Amino acid sequence: MGDFIQVAVEAEFMDGTMRQVDVDGHELLVARADGEFFIADNRCPHLGGRLSKGELDGTVVTCHLHHSMFDLRDGRVVRWTDWTGPVLTVAELARHPRPLRTYQVRVEDGFVFVGPEQLPVAEAELPY
Ligand code: FES
Repeated sequence: MGDFIQVAVEAEFMDGTMRQVDVDGHELLVARADGEFFIADNRCPHLGGRLSKGELDGTVVTCHLHHSMFDLRDGRVVRWTDWTGPVLTVAELARHPRPLRTYQVRVEDGFVFVGPEQLPVAEAELPY
């Protein structure tokens, strides 16, 4: 996605809401939080759950499957599943925590546009 593409109508999103939008066969999550729009992949980096079926709290989305949490501002992992102890250790070995892919956003003339992918969060910034 090199150019900006219209994906939504600004007025259709109340603050604190999110939904799936399909663009060229790519599932995106469009969210409005704290007065701003955020766009990310709709598929969870853990095992592909649809984040649009999860919950949005401020800029943090929680996956409905295993409750991983990601900050939509930059995709950083807030929590990698809600598993604990040895189960979490095994899960992290099997699927190393990775950030959610997020995209640049523009809002113009009442429409929301998705742009190129934002730079990924540096591994060093992850809490693991
Ligand atoms: S698929 Fe999202 S937390 Fe497992």
